[in-house]
Amino acid sequence: MKKSIKVAKNSGFCFGVRRAIEIAEKTVKPNKKIFSLGPLIHNPQEVKRLENIGIKKIENTKSLKNKVLILRTHGIPHGLKEKLKIQNLVIVDATCPFVKRAQDIVEKLAKAKKKILIVGEKKHPEIKALVSYGGSHCYVVEQSSDLKNLDLSGDICVVSQTTQSPQNFKNFVSIIKKINPQAAIYNTICKATIDRQTAAKELSKKVDVMVVVGGKNSGNTKRLAQICSKFTKTYYVETALEIKPQWFKKTKNIGISAGASTPDWIIKEVRKKIEENVNKQGAGNG
Ligand code: F3S
Repeated sequence: MKKSIKVAKNSGFCFGVRRAIEIAEKTVKPNKKIFSLGPLIHNPQEVKRLENIGIKKIENTKSLKNKVLILRTHGIPHGLKEKLKIQNLVIVDATCPFVKRAQDIVEKLAKAKKKILIVGEKKHPEIKALVSYGGSHCYVVEQSSDLKNLDLSGDICVVSQTTQSPQNFKNFVSIIKKINPQAAIYNTICKATIDRQTAAKELSKKVDVMVVVGGKNSGNTKRLAQICSKFTKTYYVETALEIKPQWFKKTKNIGISAGASTPDWIIKEVRKKIEENVNKQGAGNG
């Protein structure tokens, strides 16, 4: 049986991640480390590669002085930048412009004394930073049950995590609009997320099995896997080492998709491993 292996369009690095890595690579100098507060992107293997060229991840900046600190794509909480400058750190800001846009919107709404609901993951660094711009009337909702104890009346504005699934955001909006039709909606989902999710969804409808590749700590990869699993059998892997031959035994069409922080070299390794497994099973691939 001739098997086909297809990689979904727009898989892998998005504009914001590519930009952050380019900024970091341009900033690092031979024999001179630079530091990132938390992992620069949510992909442990790529973070390791960056570490090997001198970009070191740190968990806090307490003992860091007179060094170069790069700010990652998810951004940092309001006010932290000023604190970091006092430590004489040279700040290189690689916050994704789409994340910055969401921060600016939330800040503006907070100044206008609006009540703000952010649809997103409470523990995600982007959301923690976003909340810091939202003032005391800012709430994060992750599941529809989170809406139960909230007062949704009055001047309410709804904003999204940049990597939310559009469908999930739409579901929240429709519940909120039923309660408060005047609620103002700010869809801050970035285009890269929409494109990736659309392509993964379309491919997963056509294949017998999907392999979604990305960091297990990557929210957007997790969402890709959730979307694909609605349409076909889906496996979520971080590297080619996790690929199992039995996944492809009774399959004809195999799809691959990858999160916005998954480097091309990992996608290629995964594809190669799948091809090897398929070939071992005595068939070619297209
Ligand atoms: Fe930015 Fe969207 Fe990527 S917010 S980091 S372009 S997934």
